Amino acid sequence: MKKVLITGASGLLGRAILKEFSNSASWEVLGLAFSRSGDNLKKVDLTDNAAVRDTLKEFKPDVVVHSAAERRPDVVQNKPGDTKQLNVGATENIAKICGELNAFLVYISTDYVFDGTKPPYKPNDQPNPLNAYGQSKLDGEIVTLQCNPSAVVLRVPILYGQVEFLSESAVTILFNSVKDTSKPANMCNYQQRFPTHTRDVAVVIRQIAEKQSENPSIKGIYHWSNNEQVTKFAMATKMAEIFNLPRDHLKANEKAPPGAPRPKNAQLDTSDLDGLGIGQRTPFQEGIKEALEPYL
Ligand SMILES: NC(=O)c1ccc[n+]([C@@H]2O[C@H](COP(=O)([O-])OP(=O)(O)OC[C@H]3O[C@@H](n4cnc5c(N)ncnc54)[C@H](OP(=O)(O)O)[C@@H]3O)[C@@H](O)[C@H]2O)c1
Repeated sequence: MKKVLITGASGLLGRAILKEFSNSASWEVLGLAFSRSGDNLKKVDLTDNAAVRDTLKEFKPDVVVHSAAERRPDVVQNKPGDTKQLNVGATENIAKICGELNAFLVYISTDYVFDGTKPPYKPNDQPNPLNAYGQSKLDGEIVTLQCNPSAVVLRVPILYGQVEFLSESAVTILFNSVKDTSKPANMCNYQQRFPTHTRDVAVVIRQIAEKQSENPSIKGIYHWSNNEQVTKFAMATKMAEIFNLPRDHLKANEKAPPGAPRPKNAQLDTSDLDGLGIGQRTPFQEGIKEALEPYL
């Protein structure tokens, strides 16, 4: 049995990763969390370098999936110092310790490292983040690969899946506006997105971890994404259609969204993982129906 340690295991993606590895008899799993620790999740503040070191040295993981981050672009824009400590400082510490312990590290990153002007993006295309969040994740990638060249950086786009509350995902939050037919809802029809199910990303991560143990040439940057291109307006319209709800109040807004600047189309080219036989893609219609049904 191999051991995997997952940071951010209480988060939207981390919960799916925890479930995916826990469902496999081949893995012993330790999930870390912070404010939502408890039950099977160990509380560790990732910005406490010594506590992280102690936890990793004690558990001795074969694989570490580093999913924890501050990922809300507008929060990052307003709190750059705190974000740097978590998204970059904690990542550097984890990458160094994984190197010392010979643990294979998977660092989760984002399509927001690109400026969205020349899609689709291959892993080695030039990043140019438009906002502080994208920059902090890119800085995290750089320290990961500098401190630990055997690590994998896995970039993913906008995520959805089983949510604890609708606003937990930038996709499922749209359902609030879909359901509220009392007022018109302006929905972004400018940014092109590729909503990807957290369960699919979790499968990809487990497959990478399992393949890498036989094939150490798996290292560096990889991309994973669903392949259905939609705007938030199109996602909302699809939600209304699936649940047979009125959609006249949904209005397409062709302007760039307010707040931190976002890339127009940061489509990720996934051909490297496709070529390795890694991947799973849940159709949006199927995945979003399952995610939203509890909130009807
Ligand atoms: N969500 C998306 O659409 C999206 C898109 C592209 C890339 N990503 C990337 O995917 C990864 C996972 O994102 P997510 O959506 O799962 O994020 P999330 O739902 O916001 O979860 C963040 C996680 O980080 C943990 N965390 C925050 N501060 C911490 C600290 N000081 N010490 C320890 N843990 C801490 C949180 O723990 P507690 O809640 O227990 O405090 C939580 O488990 C991130 O690296 C993100 O950049 C996400």
